[in-house]
Amino acid sequence: MDFAAFLSDCRVQWPEFDDPPALARSTHPADRRLAGWPGKIPGMATENKLMLLNLAVARLGANEVYVEVGCYRGLSLVSAAAGNPAAQIYACDNFSQFKSSADQLRRALAEHTPPGQVHFFDLEFRKFLIDAPWRPAKIGVYFYDGGHSFADQYDGLRYALPSLADGALVIVDDTNKRNVRSANRLFAREIEGFEPVLDLRTPRNHSPTWWNGIQLFRFRRPADFALPNGVTLGYRVRRFLWDDVFLRARHNWRAQRNQLKSRLRRRPR
Ligand SMILES: C[S@@+](CC[C@H](N)C(=O)[O-])C[C@H]1O[C@@H](n2cnc3c(N)ncnc32)[C@H](O)[C@@H]1O
Repeated sequence: MDFAAFLSDCRVQWPEFDDPPALARSTHPADRRLAGWPGKIPGMATENKLMLLNLAVARLGANEVYVEVGCYRGLSLVSAAAGNPAAQIYACDNFSQFKSSADQLRRALAEHTPPGQVHFFDLEFRKFLIDAPWRPAKIGVYFYDGGHSFADQYDGLRYALPSLADGALVIVDDTNKRNVRSANRLFAREIEGFEPVLDLRTPRNHSPTWWNGIQLFRFRRPADFALPNGVTLGYRVRRFLWDDVFLRARHNWRAQRNQLKSRLRRRPR
C-alpha cells in the first residue's frame, strides 16, 4: 500500500495526526461522509476508526487486498469499502461472540456494497488465514477485530504474516486490553520488520473517539525474511499467564459477582 499517501490523507482528516495524545482525544475526522454509518449498521466502531480503515483501503496497491477478521454486522467492513469500489475485500467471522449471524451480515453487504467486491467466509479466523482465498494477491491492509484473548490476538497476526505484502498496514482494534497489547508487543519484538506506527488509547471501552483503543503497525519484509518456525517460550509463558490465569480469574470473578447480584435482587425487602 502507498503508506506515504495514507499518512498524508490522515493528516488532512486529523490535523493533529502527528500529536498522538491530541489525536487520541479527536472526536471525528474533517470529512463527515462516514458519520451516518454507525446509525445504519449496529457495530463496535467510531467514525474515526471507520475513516482510518476507509483511507487505508483507498491506498491499496496493485495485487493487494483488504482483509478483515471479525465483522459482526458489517459496520467496519461496509465503511472500509465505501467509495473504494476497486478494492477487493476478504473477511471472516464465525459468529462465536455477540448476537449476529452470517445471514444478517450478508444482507448488510448486499445492501451496501457492490456485488463481487466483498468475499465473506463464515469461518474460524485461523482456517481463513491459512486458506488465504485471496491468493496470489497479498494483504495490503489487514484489520484484526476478532477474539481478543492473548492467543487469539497473537495468532491473528501470526497466521496473517505469510500473506502480508511488503509495506502492509496492520490495524488492531481493542488495544486498551492488556492481553492484546502484550500479544502485539511480543509479536513486534519477535518479527523483524513488524514496526509500531501508532498507539491510541481511550479512557474506556465504547469511547466516542477511538472506541477501545487502536494500534497500527507496518510490515516491511526484510530481504532475508524467513517465517518463524512455531511459537517461542515467551509466547507459551504469556499465553499461560494471560489466558489460563488472568482471563480465567476474571471470568470466575464476573460469574460470582453476577450470581451475588441476582441473589440480592431476589431477596425479599
Ligand atoms: C468486536 S466484534 C467485530 C466488530 C466489527 N468489526 C464492527 O466494527 O462492528 C468481534 C467479532 O469477532 C468474531 N470472532 C471472535 N472470535 C472469532 C474467531 N475465532 N474466528 C472468527 N471470528 C471470531 C465475533 O463473532 C465477533 O463478531
